[in-house]
Amino acid sequence: MSKPATQPHDVYAIDRWGRDLFSVLENGDLGLKNPMRVDAAPVSLPDIMSDLEERGIHAPLVLRVSPFLEHGIRHINASFAQAIAQVGYNGVYRGVFPIKVNQQAQVIDRIVQFGRQYSYGLEAGSKAELVIALAHRLARDALIVCNGVKDAEFISLALLSRKLGFNTVVVLESPKELETVLTVAAELGQEPLLGVRVKLTNQIGGAWSESSGDRSTFGMHTDQLVAVIDRLKEAGMLHCLKLQHSHLGSQIPDVNDVRRATREACRYFIELTREGVELTHLDLGGGLGVDYTGEKNASENSINYSVAEYATNIVETVAYELDGAGLDHPVLVTESGRAVVATSSMLIFNVLEATLYDGQTSPDAAPDDHHLVGDLIAVQDYLKPARVQECLNDAAYYRNELRALFRRGFIDLRQMARAEQIYLSLMSKIKRLAESGTDFGDQLEKLTDIYHCNFSLFQSLPDVWAIDQLHPVVPLQQLNVVPDRRAVLADITCDSDGKVDRFILDDGVSPSLPVHSLSDATHYYIGVFYVGAYQETLGDLHNLFGDTNVATIELRDDGDFDLLHEQEGDTIAEVLSYVEYDPRDCVDAFRQMVDQATSEKRLKAADRKALMTAYRGSISGYTYYE
Ligand SMILES: Cc1ncc(COP(=O)(O)O)c(C=O)c1O
Repeated sequence: MSKPATQPHDVYAIDRWGRDLFSVLENGDLGLKNPMRVDAAPVSLPDIMSDLEERGIHAPLVLRVSPFLEHGIRHINASFAQAIAQVGYNGVYRGVFPIKVNQQAQVIDRIVQFGRQYSYGLEAGSKAELVIALAHRLARDALIVCNGVKDAEFISLALLSRKLGFNTVVVLESPKELETVLTVAAELGQEPLLGVRVKLTNQIGGAWSESSGDRSTFGMHTDQLVAVIDRLKEAGMLHCLKLQHSHLGSQIPDVNDVRRATREACRYFIELTREGVELTHLDLGGGLGVDYTGEKNASENSINYSVAEYATNIVETVAYELDGAGLDHPVLVTESGRAVVATSSMLIFNVLEATLYDGQTSPDAAPDDHHLVGDLIAVQDYLKPARVQECLNDAAYYRNELRALFRRGFIDLRQMARAEQIYLSLMSKIKRLAESGTDFGDQLEKLTDIYHCNFSLFQSLPDVWAIDQLHPVVPLQQLNVVPDRRAVLADITCDSDGKVDRFILDDGVSPSLPVHSLSDATHYYIGVFYVGAYQETLGDLHNLFGDTNVATIELRDDGDFDLLHEQEGDTIAEVLSYVEYDPRDCVDAFRQMVDQATSEKRLKAADRKALMTAYRGSISGYTYYE
């Protein structure tokens, strides 16, 4: 069989990780496909960016694609519905979205809107998240599941919300929490709807393995469960306990772990029922993973199953186990966050400039060159594939010697600059040999360019920094042109950790990204994909780079888009207020110094105006490069 023709963009493996959502257009632009309307024309991302720029919405930008989110919700609900029909399961699926995974109002509003037809609910892990959940009109039979540590105020609000018709379940995390619930319930005269969080002993694999198993921080051991049941019986409130919660984990790589943990959760369900608990809901928490690399294997950034397979595994296992025990099938609940929202947002930034690790021209030898400069120039005379390693060694040696001489004052700045230029042009020749097919292992990685990009890793991609999360990264344009350079992406924080240097490519994970030479005429945009889960709120204010601009768009059938919502990024005044400064005080303090300099005639009146305008302009501006 003949191999399919290769395209310049194949290197980014877009078809592997993003086939349903992205396609490369004929002009080389990356296009967004509408997963809700498969016949619609894809929409060019560079066109979206230039349109948004014209409207004054600049990069860096989080772009939320509304149909991607709608698709995420439809996909999980339809997958469970299909599995339930196929297996002949006698219960329904009532998923809840864990607010912590993306708390942004525009996202939660849409999740509630798109999820209403599926009676999709919300999970709240704190008082603040419960406040958010209660501000939404959910479907009549949708759930609000309250997890996490709860004080009396949290529990009161949860119980009182039942008077409004909310199905708010208080999931008990410990016997102590039950005491607070009993007190509050007695005070309010309101029966609670209770859940109980069971700690499973099965440990799942992957990056989040610690959040499962014996040593996970939440949930109760068997002795605590028994204590809770006895206490509820004693209080005459065992009938309030309706839901068993067993969080399977997060980003579970292997579907067999899902099956094993579900089976263990069923054992508890059966035993609790035998204890007289009238359980109606089995909540299996989070864990449904995202295939960031598209490799379909059980590894930290990939998964070996589809959403449909995950749903089928759960439905089949629960049906089998409960049939065996002669019990009715419960309502199935999952709290999938990542899998529902990750794909719906992307971070887009422009490249500001490049530090190139090669040079096109090499200066000729000059009579007053230091002899080591001459030696460096001479390396190119014996540069050929068989001697590349030797050339790399020699060039590094001569350059290091010259740098040592410079540090000690034996050669001047111009001589050093000539040496660096000769070195870089040598590297350029070596890179060309590599492009012609010679394999130099990882030798050339030290020679990849640095593309300086307009974003903060710590604010926008915190998991890349904290847990080596991989996200697909692709230039948005020129995808019909073979990339002529390789680069790592540095952010604009003053931190050497602020860089992306692991990329998903067609031949595996690479320490550099294939990119195109920059032109002065146009923006070179790069997109980081699948950032909708956890990234938007986990980010921090390193160097006081704040939230980016956010645009939510709808994809139209004609290849155009509608801007549904714009959220301006933080201004400098806003980030100052997060770190205890009152921006007005800053303006006042600066004004006092300016006025003093003006009265002491150190500053002209016109300069005073310019200074105050510049200071005020900065304080009200975007924290990123404009
Ligand atoms: C209790 C609970 N539910 C749901 C989730 C969401 O998990 P995921 O994003 O993997 O679906 C988490 C996250 O760890 C969690 O702790």
